[in-house]
Amino acid sequence: MRQLLPPRTDPGAPVDLDVAYAVAVPDPGRHHVRVNFVTSVDGAAEVGGRSGALGGVGDREIFQRLRWLCDVILVGSGTARAENYGAVKVPPERQAAREAAGQAPVPPVAVVSGRLTLDPTARLFTSDGPRPIVVTCENAPADRRAALAGVADVVTAGTDTVDTRAAVEALAARGLTRVLCEGGPSLHADLAVAGLIDELCLTISPLVAGPDRTHITAGRQWTDTEQLDLAHVLEQDGTLFLRYRHPHR
Ligand SMILES: NC(=O)c1ccc[n+]([C@@H]2O[C@H](COP(=O)([O-])OP(=O)(O)OC[C@H]3O[C@@H](n4cnc5c(N)ncnc54)[C@H](OP(=O)(O)O)[C@@H]3O)[C@@H](O)[C@H]2O)c1
Repeated sequence: MRQLLPPRTDPGAPVDLDVAYAVAVPDPGRHHVRVNFVTSVDGAAEVGGRSGALGGVGDREIFQRLRWLCDVILVGSGTARAENYGAVKVPPERQAAREAAGQAPVPPVAVVSGRLTLDPTARLFTSDGPRPIVVTCENAPADRRAALAGVADVVTAGTDTVDTRAAVEALAARGLTRVLCEGGPSLHADLAVAGLIDELCLTISPLVAGPDRTHITAGRQWTDTEQLDLAHVLEQDGTLFLRYRHPHR
């Protein structure tokens, strides 16, 4: 992997992903929300309903590294289901480094679902790892909430749908201030509309996926565009790894 931007004095030097993707601990009462997506060059976020065909070796490496750096992984129920989420895997030496830095050895997964369409026997709730978190709303079906409370910590944020700001604040109140959102497009759009996103990490794979694919935002009407600042560009095997920051956060 090489760094294209910002330019380096030694362009061939290996890229230290811990440095390239470092996030400072947020100030008390604050949080940092990073979103990570992979797309084709024509903007597809899925092929055949999953993202796996889009990512290569470098994308998987960065995907994993971002997980090792965060306090919690936030996903919508559609992504948790489509990608068959399980507990996060962190190697022992990284777990030790996380603990030394005051983090839990393994970040939990928090799934956002208003209707609680999650199966309590799904891999996410049965694989070894930290207890998952389900983020839902007051008017979620009581029977499903009760079933999920047996396998996850259930957090309520919002009335008819999940209020994403209240959700991120509830996670921060648990000490989970560095949030890595792995999608999907609907949750991403909700976070963006709420003005919660601090940065977007985007992998662009050298593939054309064709028309009528899901993009990285979905399900929301947009009234304006949002400007981002480009922080870096990395490259490997024709795949670009872009880190964008929100200029005002
Ligand atoms: N390319 C990539 O990097 C990438 C990353 C992630 C996902 N994907 C792809 O995206 C597709 C899934 O898209 P998606 O839009 O369905 O995913 P999603 O955003 O993960 O899930 C949508 C679901 O999340 C819940 N949700 C999200 N925001 C909510 C809110 N504010 N309040 C209440 N519930 C909320 C709802 O669940 P309930 O219906 O349970 O209430 C909603 O139906 C898959 O094909 C997946 O492979 C691609």
